[in-house]
Amino acid sequence: MSKDKLWGGRFTQPTDKFVEEFTASIDFDKRLYHQDIRGSIAHARMLGKQQIIPMEDVELIVSGLQEILEQIEAGKFDFSISLEDIHMNIESRLSAKIGEAGKRLHTGRSRNDQVALDIRLYLRDELVGISAYLDLLVDSLLGQAEKNINVIMPGYTHLQTAQPILFAHHMLAYVEMFKRDKGRMEDCLKRANVLPLGAGALAGTTFPIDREHVAELLDFPEVTRNSLDSVSDRDFALEFLSASSILMMHLSRLSEELILWSTSEFKFIELSDGFCTGSSIMPQKKNPDVPELVRGKTGRVYGNLMALLTVMKSLPLAYNKDMQEDKEPLFDTIDTVKGSLKIFADMIREMRVNTENMRNAAAKGFSTATDVADYLVRKGMPFRDAHEVVGKSVAYCVANSKDLPELTIDEWKTFSHMIDEDIYAAITLEASVNARRATGGTSLDGVRKEITRIRAGK
Ligand code: ARG
Repeated sequence: MSKDKLWGGRFTQPTDKFVEEFTASIDFDKRLYHQDIRGSIAHARMLGKQQIIPMEDVELIVSGLQEILEQIEAGKFDFSISLEDIHMNIESRLSAKIGEAGKRLHTGRSRNDQVALDIRLYLRDELVGISAYLDLLVDSLLGQAEKNINVIMPGYTHLQTAQPILFAHHMLAYVEMFKRDKGRMEDCLKRANVLPLGAGALAGTTFPIDREHVAELLDFPEVTRNSLDSVSDRDFALEFLSASSILMMHLSRLSEELILWSTSEFKFIELSDGFCTGSSIMPQKKNPDVPELVRGKTGRVYGNLMALLTVMKSLPLAYNKDMQEDKEPLFDTIDTVKGSLKIFADMIREMRVNTENMRNAAAKGFSTATDVADYLVRKGMPFRDAHEVVGKSVAYCVANSKDLPELTIDEWKTFSHMIDEDIYAAITLEASVNARRATGGTSLDGVRKEITRIRAGK
């Protein structure tokens, strides 16, 4: 009956059963139980301090909530759909436990500012966890860079061989991306870390509450400044979903490369067996399921961002029930991002690099053609002319099935008299890589310095 409901007073008819199920969020918002209880304890303590409710009641509320917390954690709490969400499940159990005092907890508060608080508390904790996972992944990538510091691979543009690079340099490119992702998560934390409680339903409260005290109890550096905005703002969640989408985009690009590098055509790397599966029909197969799945899961994270943006679009101020739809995309994204980061950190750590194949591929495709042009420039030829000369020598090589290092000095001389014996030393893979010494380049010294810098947390 409607009389079971915490809001049943103005109703005479019970809620339709299906409406009850359709509108309930308990199935997914129960994961906010810890934050809900933590927020309620802080709220109750503040109400006591401000003499809005008696201190004896505060003690009862706090110990009652702590018991409920233990029950939930022990799996002994029966969540009820007819109590709609986590907030009312807990509050109603509290009143059943301690009577009158429990019914005073919701003084000066609404579920609208309560749920805003709970999500902020929840996201705040998860952001710290996600940053830690990002550190783990960065550590794995750095480990690969260190272990394979001398390995040379082809660098690509348009997926065509471009110039030789250190494999470590390639790993460090992803380190840069994931470090920026961490920065975005930290930025998001700044906006999430603001206390909305005290906004009431939308307009504030008639009770002499002390929001700054609640903020202190809950470790919020700031309180929100407008009650309407406090209950209707989900920007912090959208920021997290945006940052997560960019992070998944990075993981997806890395996935794509790992998948490509695992093919029998490339054979640059081997993922360890634990991260691959076989085929039920083709006995030879070892499929890179993990990077494929992460690449696929990128789609659902983008979808979650789009879902919440669309939910929020056109919502009039302040709270609307539509906003209950914020939780599933948020929770799903948190789970997906954490799972993807964890599995990638482990998989990258165990990945084996096929040094020979990378090196052989780097030697193909006239990858040192730019180095020949740069060589001519150092001898005084304008770069555009040098480009033309090397273009012709490449065409000659193609026609005669040769690589640039295989040209004899007489052959070189037909393209330019400026070319001497020292050309051979200038166009080895090592020379090509190590010549790129300016900050951010692929030279061995430069890459070593970058690893040291990042390891030092700079
Ligand atoms: N379950 C609700 C949500 O997640 C809590 C807030 C409900 N507020 C209300 N006025 N119905 O958004």
